[in-house]
Amino acid sequence: MDYTSIINKLIDYTRSLPINCALAAISGGVDSTTSAVLVRRAIGDRLRAIFIDTGFMRSNEPNQVKSLLSGVLPINIVDLHDYFYREMLGIDDAEEKRVKFRGLFYTALSRIANELGCDWLVQGTIAPDWIETKGGIKTQHNVLEQVGIDTVSRYRFKLLEPLREFYKDQVREIARYLSVPGEIINRQPFPGPGLSIRAVGTLTMEKLDVVRKATEIVEKRLGELGLSQWFAAAWEFKVSHNDEITKSLGQLGRLSAELFSIRATGVKGDARSYGHVALIRGEPTRWDTIYELYDLVTSRYDVTHVIYELAERGRGKYFVSIRAVVTDDFMTADVPRLSRDKLLEVAKEVLDNDDRVAGVGYDVTPKPPATIEYE
Ligand code: XMP
Repeated sequence: MDYTSIINKLIDYTRSLPINCALAAISGGVDSTTSAVLVRRAIGDRLRAIFIDTGFMRSNEPNQVKSLLSGVLPINIVDLHDYFYREMLGIDDAEEKRVKFRGLFYTALSRIANELGCDWLVQGTIAPDWIETKGGIKTQHNVLEQVGIDTVSRYRFKLLEPLREFYKDQVREIARYLSVPGEIINRQPFPGPGLSIRAVGTLTMEKLDVVRKATEIVEKRLGELGLSQWFAAAWEFKVSHNDEITKSLGQLGRLSAELFSIRATGVKGDARSYGHVALIRGEPTRWDTIYELYDLVTSRYDVTHVIYELAERGRGKYFVSIRAVVTDDFMTADVPRLSRDKLLEVAKEVLDNDDRVAGVGYDVTPKPPATIEYE
């Protein structure tokens, strides 16, 4: 692909638009940053970039992003965590969280755009975002027009999505051509609703704190392995034994199956599913067998994610799942076959670091039948 000519066309197109001022909401990820850098090339200082601190970010993320972008794009941090907490704590359904987050996010952006006199909003929507939202797999926070939301009447801005037809690997190429710093290009994706959808099930401050701490460890420990995405998710450690699934695992080792009380998203065929999360405990015949468990379980039962337990202590309220995937386009993803020693080491550190955590496991489910995130 001729990226120079693609970029020139995008810049020319942006210049041809009647833009008074455009607001860009940056997350620090490659999609939103590249979109903003591209639009800045076209309209200069008429682009105003902000970073909204929703309270669902990782430790110290707002300041980190600001310093990563210094020299590329001046941004202002807008701290709205009280507003998001007030409206979102207590929600337990995955789609309800996503729809609520989207409403709050754009209401805030509309207010800020109006204050600044901006009549356009630049955002980093890319092809898989709207394909999956339109396909009903999940409500991605940054998909509006494609699902029939008229932003002019609802939020008083027009949308500019220069990367909407591209996939992640293409966006990374465009970013390279635009000299976006390598740290941003290679930053792993982080969903707009952030940790709110990784604190699975009912959203509480405590669960957010547990997942934030576990995330720090998992991101640090798995950071050098060349993975596409690696993170932690947390939910209540409430399980019930499942005899039928346990029996079906007979030939794979001395294993038992439990189902958690929460549900998580998956993709079956081309449709969304919201099923159980299975926890498999015990000794597999050989270590690699854990990577075969998901097929047996998800093909026969209403289960979207299968997690192999790595470590447990008798007390504590939460379970932490280590999630890692390898993928080119994020539409499908494989689970890397990490070694037992590595995973046990990370699991132990997560347990030792937080006595609210009662158990830690590794999610062994590719996409499909799971999604990368849990909600
Ligand atoms: P799933 O969970 O659908 O995720 O397999 C695919 C990719 O999309 C990211 N993701 C999001 N990104 N806003 C975003 O900007 C969102 O609402 C959102 N939800 C999921 C996810 O982290 C993965 O990279």
